[in-house]
Amino acid sequence: MSGQPQRALRMSYVVASVAGVAFFVMSVALLGWWPKRVLDEQSRAMGPEYVLPLSESARRGRVVYSREGCAYCHTQQVRYLHTDMARFGAPTLAWETRLDYPHLWGTRRIGPDLTRAAFTRSTDWHFAHLFSPRAVVPASVMPAYAALFDGAPDRPRQEARDLVAYLETLGRARELAAPEGEARAREACNCTDDEMAMMAFDGALNAHPGRARRTHEAPALPRSADLDRGRQLYGEHCATCHGATGQGDGPGARGLRPAPASLAEHEYSTDRLADVLWNGVWGTAMPAWRDRRPEDLAAIAEAVRALTRAEPNPPVPDHMVELGARVFRENCVQCHGDEGLGNGPAAAELAMSPSNFHRQRPSLDRAIRVLRNGIDGTPMAPWTARLSDAELIAVAHHVRGYYEGASAAPGGVRR
Ligand code: HEC
Ligand code: HEC
Ligand code: HEC
Repeated sequence: MSGQPQRALRMSYVVASVAGVAFFVMSVALLGWWPKRVLDEQSRAMGPEYVLPLSESARRGRVVYSREGCAYCHTQQVRYLHTDMARFGAPTLAWETRLDYPHLWGTRRIGPDLTRAAFTRSTDWHFAHLFSPRAVVPASVMPAYAALFDGAPDRPRQEARDLVAYLETLGRARELAAPEGEARAREACNCTDDEMAMMAFDGALNAHPGRARRTHEAPALPRSADLDRGRQLYGEHCATCHGATGQGDGPGARGLRPAPASLAEHEYSTDRLADVLWNGVWGTAMPAWRDRRPEDLAAIAEAVRALTRAEPNPPVPDHMVELGARVFRENCVQCHGDEGLGNGPAAAELAMSPSNFHRQRPSLDRAIRVLRNGIDGTPMAPWTARLSDAELIAVAHHVRGYYEGASAAPGGVRR
């Protein structure tokens, strides 16, 4: 009688260990092996066939990124949340990080997510910011990485170059794959009835409000503007680069190519300021400010206009009118356009848009200085080798003549 329970008890150890091992194997299979297989398959199907690997420099930059602890403050994953999508863009797809090993997703966001950092900021912006974040963004708590430089933001060491090369790869694969890549991923995902999965294909890939755009389209700003508020916002966001009095000499200006414009030496139409604030200036460190309310942008525009140093408009001597027009026709129209609208045949090929003189007027001094020295870091070259002094002055007068005043029509087109 007593033999039976004893045997059952002895067997229970065997049953327990078999069950234990089986449970372990099952867990590994269900929680480890199976999801990895599904994920591998999914990312192979959804990703492009070929993803540009990191360059040697970017690979070294990735090591600098890990070593300097950037991942303690920055994530590299846009989540499936509307707040994330509004600020950064499309949620991260698994394939985007398939070469990212060990991953640097991070868990804390003391600074913004960097998943879509590629093509968002200019290289000179990155250098100025890494060298001294508060010189560019006054309220920043990001530490300065001046040790990656030889004493100045425009003298980056190899490590700083590598780091920025790495930042320029974040989000690059998906950007380069789109829109064919998006269509392919969407098809492979086969998830049209899964509302959450579909969020990955909603809206803009990169929604960074500071990303400069090449277009000149911008919403019209409200007509009335609060100058005091504008001055305050200018002090908080713009003075770092453009200087408190708008002379282009703020602490963040050090090392930027091209340098921030001297706002004091310009008149701008409302429309031009709306364009600059909404789109930034493509090809330069000038960010866009699309996360601001239109009333704030109008206020800032008003503050910028108030910085213009009032200068009497020098009358153009008669003999210069003809000369200026001829010099312009012979030398400047391929970029600045027949009518000075910045739309010459070469304009689309340039790294940045030539000025549209209908919407902004440089002071005579500034125009002559630009013609003598060019603008460092832009396609605008010096003209002293080609033009005489009289021709320079005449054409400087000429380009100033196009300006249509503060309320020029949208696009700056004469109506
Ligand atoms: C102590 C936290 C902290 C650390 C560490 C840190 N950052 Fe930041 N970072 C921030 C904060 C806060 C901001 C937002 C304010 C600003 O732009 O400076 C920021 C902004 C940025 C931006 C601009 C993002 C954008 O487009 O608006 C970049 C790029 C960046 N950091 C890169 C780095 C890199 C690279 C490192 C490592 C070398 C690093 N950060 C380390 C806190 C940090
Ligand atoms: C990171 C530095 C930086 C910050 C911050 C910055 N700017 Fe700029 N800004 C630039 C640079 C660089 C240019 C390009 C100059 C050029 O085109 O030669 C520029 C261009 C401009 C222009 C067009 C100038 C022209 O003549 O074409 C305007 C207007 C302007 N900025 C206004 C502002 C305002 C207003 C703010 C604040 C909301 C601001 N900027 C913030 C760097 C900055
Ligand atoms: C290769 C194309 C190109 C040619 C040719 C060219 N420019 Fe420019 N120019 C530019 C670009 C691009 C800018 C804008 C640079 C910037 O925003 O910093 C510019 C800016 C300027 C500015 C400064 C405007 C301002 O508001 O500060 C003046 C003045 C100017 N050009 C005059 C001329 C004149 C006059 C000629 C002919 C003698 C000429 N340019 C020929 C491309 C060109």
